[in-house]
Amino acid sequence: MDSTGISFTALFTGHVWYEHGMSARFFTSPKGRLLHRAAQPVEAAGRKLLGITVEDMLLQRHHIIDHLIQQRVTRDGVTQILEIACGYSPRGYKLSRKYPQLSYVEADLPHMALRKRTLLQQHRGFGPQHQVVACDVFAQGKPLGLDYIFTEVLDPKRPTLIITEGLVNYFSLQDISQVWSQLASLGQVFPKAWYLTDLVPKPDYTGKTLVNAATKMLSLATRASVNLHFNGPADIKQGMHQCGFHEVAVYQPEQFRDQLPIPLPPAKSPINSIVRVLECQIHPG
Ligand SMILES: C[S@@+](CC[C@H](N)C(=O)[O-])C[C@H]1O[C@@H](n2cnc3c(N)ncnc32)[C@H](O)[C@@H]1O
Repeated sequence: MDSTGISFTALFTGHVWYEHGMSARFFTSPKGRLLHRAAQPVEAAGRKLLGITVEDMLLQRHHIIDHLIQQRVTRDGVTQILEIACGYSPRGYKLSRKYPQLSYVEADLPHMALRKRTLLQQHRGFGPQHQVVACDVFAQGKPLGLDYIFTEVLDPKRPTLIITEGLVNYFSLQDISQVWSQLASLGQVFPKAWYLTDLVPKPDYTGKTLVNAATKMLSLATRASVNLHFNGPADIKQGMHQCGFHEVAVYQPEQFRDQLPIPLPPAKSPINSIVRVLECQIHPG
């Protein structure tokens, strides 16, 4: 499956994180700035009509995932992270310095992995146990398959966290379920393991028109079919259990109102936050 059309969206996200003080300047680019500027009229319309923008959604998911990572590292002894489809995520750069005991493996399609590795090398951005590897979640075996990365790159003795951010809605439920099942199965090797991801479920009636329009626009721009897989928390949990995950928690940004500096739609907005973050237990330990 060719999903390279998705890669440019990482430029936009990378720029948003930088603008909000969550990333380093070297992860931004003129193209990212341009995309960000071009999106401003749509963002302003979203803010006016709904009280929420794409940028808000990106910040919501990133803050919540960061928060859950911090909990797993400090409370549950996670010492290894695999961030799949890392794009320009600053986490490897930040966390491998903050927690020197942490092994941080970033993975993305070969062209993106090369770009990320080059940027980190140029800016002395690699932490003590930090690497970027090429990966295609739909490949099998050496050199790009998840099976190869789990057996040859990751350390089976470490409590492990696997992350995907901004990836899963670009694939059909059937295709991404194969990836999820593989993660749930390969993750059994670790003494303890979790999987974190964001996703956008199908909207309820109020948000339907907006989310459907945004989905169509994103499909056109990325040449990928953007899919909303699940109806709500019960449906999400059932789908993830079917792929082999144990406990599944579904978080909505509003739950973090008092804990995290995340943008939320105002009370008078016609919709609630759209994005959800899932924390799935792979191996209870
Ligand atoms: C929307 S970006 C998300 C990047 C980053 N996680 C973020 O939140 O900005 C999607 C990322 O998925 C990567 N990607 C697309 N198809 C992939 C695949 N089959 N296997 C691994 N990564 C893939 C792209 O190269 C891109 O970096």
